[in-house]
Amino acid sequence: MIEPILKWAGGKRSLIPEIISLLPKDYRNKKYHEPFFGGGALFFEIQPKSGSINDINRQLMNFYRVIRDKPEEIIELASSYKYEKEEFYKLRDKYNTPNLTDVEYASLLLYLNKTAFNGLYRVNSKGLFNVPFGRYKNPTIVDENRIKKASKALKNVEILNKDFSYVIDYSKKGDICYFDPPYSPLNKTAYFTSYSSDGFSWEDQIRLRDTCISLDKKGVLFVLSNSYVKELVEEYRKIDSFYIKTVKANRAINSKASNRGPINEILVTNILVK
Ligand SMILES: C[S@@+](CC[C@H](N)C(=O)[O-])C[C@H]1O[C@@H](n2cnc3c(N)ncnc32)[C@H](O)[C@@H]1O
Repeated sequence: MIEPILKWAGGKRSLIPEIISLLPKDYRNKKYHEPFFGGGALFFEIQPKSGSINDINRQLMNFYRVIRDKPEEIIELASSYKYEKEEFYKLRDKYNTPNLTDVEYASLLLYLNKTAFNGLYRVNSKGLFNVPFGRYKNPTIVDENRIKKASKALKNVEILNKDFSYVIDYSKKGDICYFDPPYSPLNKTAYFTSYSSDGFSWEDQIRLRDTCISLDKKGVLFVLSNSYVKELVEEYRKIDSFYIKTVKANRAINSKASNRGPINEILVTNILVK
């Protein structure tokens, strides 16, 4: 098992045992696809032998390509950055400029992930990274050992930067696919009244449900996680071959501290639940 290199919103570490228990016993030998990669907690846990990883965030996928292909270079460059407020803002400005090398963008992303407030990744309407300096006690920016292990784990997978639906054409019968989309706001109306959906619309959620239907027809095995939203659960219930499991997950989902704590999440799968 390898710890993910990046902190990423919606990281799925606490659900991993539950998800693995749904997979067929020989899951390590199957082709694996993860279309909403983020920090890739499940991927790094199971270290599949082949398949694809994907995210719509271009910089994020450049980062993993550099980790896979040029681990020594990112280790060397990122090790030269210091955790210091003035340096942080200088490097943040640099990250927001065009025409750097892939290793420079990846090293800066690693640095910002470890030093920005709460490890958040947020860009403004112009696409510029705008998270402020975060206060940490001696943050580890470069974990050499983890980078080398991750680099090995990524060796035989394709790293893509597409919309999640690529997986319909990309996968074959018997492959495994894990979907961890941006969390749905807690009800359907919230899609139209708040910004909490992360740009992932209700229509995208339905498109994702339909992608699962296409995979199911091809004989691809899938597991999907999401927050428990009644309207969404109803959409998945319409499909006879899908199973829905409700699980508790600890997640800060509300800005009011009193509303934080375990909330219900769902796992949807077409693998026969034991
Ligand atoms: C909940 S996070 C995944 C967290 C990940 N499982 C982990 O363990 O860190 C969702 C990811 O979906 C990506 N995303 C959003 N819309 C997408 C789309 N249409 N296609 C592919 N990826 C998308 C976001 O950039 C984000 O990284």
